[in-house]
Amino acid sequence: MPLLMLVLATVHSIVTSGFICSEGSRVSPGSVKTRQEPTCLTDYISTSTCEWEMAGPTNCSTELRLTYQLNFIFSENYTCVPENRDSTVCTCDMLMDNVVSVDIYQLDLWAGKQLLWTASFKPSEHVKPRAPGNLTVHANVSHTWLLTWSNPYPPESHLNSEITYLVNVSNENDPKDFKIYNVTYLGPTLRIAASTLKSGASYSARVKAWAQSYNSSWSEWSPSATWLNYYQEPLEQRLPLGVSISCVIILAICLSCYFSIIKIKKEWWDQIPNPAHSPLVAIVIQDSQVGEQAGEDASDCVYQEVSLWGKRSRVQEAAKCPYVYKLRS
Ligand SMILES: *[C@@H]1O[C@H](CO)[C@@H](O)[C@H](O)[C@H]1NC(C)=O
Ligand SMILES: *[C@@H]1O[C@H](CO)[C@@H](O)[C@H](O)[C@H]1NC(C)=O
Ligand SMILES: *[C@@H]1O[C@H](CO)[C@@H](O)[C@H](O)[C@H]1NC(C)=O
Ligand SMILES: *[C@@H]1O[C@H](CO)[C@@H](O)[C@H](O)[C@H]1NC(C)=O
Ligand SMILES: *[C@@H]1O[C@H](CO)[C@@H](O)[C@H](O)[C@H]1NC(C)=O
Ligand SMILES: *[C@@H]1O[C@H](CO)[C@@H](O)[C@H](O)[C@H]1NC(C)=O
Ligand SMILES: *[C@@H]1O[C@H](CO)[C@@H](O)[C@H](O)[C@H]1NC(C)=O
Repeated sequence: MPLLMLVLATVHSIVTSGFICSEGSRVSPGSVKTRQEPTCLTDYISTSTCEWEMAGPTNCSTELRLTYQLNFIFSENYTCVPENRDSTVCTCDMLMDNVVSVDIYQLDLWAGKQLLWTASFKPSEHVKPRAPGNLTVHANVSHTWLLTWSNPYPPESHLNSEITYLVNVSNENDPKDFKIYNVTYLGPTLRIAASTLKSGASYSARVKAWAQSYNSSWSEWSPSATWLNYYQEPLEQRLPLGVSISCVIILAICLSCYFSIIKIKKEWWDQIPNPAHSPLVAIVIQDSQVGEQAGEDASDCVYQEVSLWGKRSRVQEAAKCPYVYKLRS
């Protein structure tokens, strides 16, 4: 009986693996099989990474090897030792220096002496840039947030000037409330007006990169940066209020000036003896009438000096000289 069960199990496993085989494309007739062929992407500066899925649980580092060799005379045959990403998925990081666009590599996946898969790989057609990093958010002038991050490629690398970015700014309390910004200019910075985001809300930003000229994949997202969006109403909105307040203040100042002047006039200016109201003027007016009657003969006139305080200092023949007065204070 145990023998029959063993046979049944074996038949079952053959049928199952046969079914899986028809899905995969290049599976050798051995015991170890891939469920999904390797897919390989390069950061186009130092490393290309292949990932594939095995038909069953596999210890990638002990059972498998990936060899890679540049299709160029005298180039070395390198070996990559894969690692498990989970029980059936293997990844392998192949170091490749000084990749250029014409490079083509020959890749072979081995299980011992058994060839599981072979393909040629042109890195420049399978670029996945490195993720940007060092994302920070600073308050900048006039209610603007300044986001900066680092270009993951050093200045001498091919991709340094090819990279453009996409920034995702999302409300931490409402994942559906997010904004996407295309940063297609050179320079890893983005300015966001605080007024375009909800005031008092907490926001999270992350950035990813791609190289359009290589028709690359998107990079992974950078680590995110979060901040609280607080801001005062922008100047334009505060301006009308400021103008109204200024008008009211100016009006108040004008009114208080007006009333002060009235008051000063009443209490001080009107107390100052006014010649027009003094008895002397009455006399002078009288005198002038007399003078007119006397034939307006001013030849005998002498200066009359009359002090403001009503004391005549020198009055001579006032009657003959009605209209020449010198007031001295
Ligand atoms: C694979 O085998 C090696 C050596 O036996 C062991 O150290 C390692 O932990 C195994 N890895 C997995 C994922 O089982
Ligand atoms: C690379 O070396 C491995 C053995 O280390 C060999 O099996 C494989 O055929 C070689 N590949 C090429 C393309 O020469
Ligand atoms: C972050 O900045 C440091 C120092 O400037 C730099 O060495 C590092 O490469 C940057 N990280 C990324 C992912 O670019
Ligand atoms: C605002 O950004 C400009 C340009 O990047 C910078 O020169 C300035 O120092 C920033 N101001 C503040 C307050 O961060
Ligand atoms: C932006 O981020 C938010 C929050 O993580 C996410 O729900 C949304 O799908 C993202 N949008 C894009 C276009 O990546
Ligand atoms: C960003 O730019 C790409 C092309 O450069 C375009 O296809 C995409 O729709 C743009 N996305 C947004 C949110 O503007
Ligand atoms: C860019 O790549 C995608 C697949 O990643 C492909 O469908 C598309 O045709 C490519 N575009 C160009 C212009 O090569």
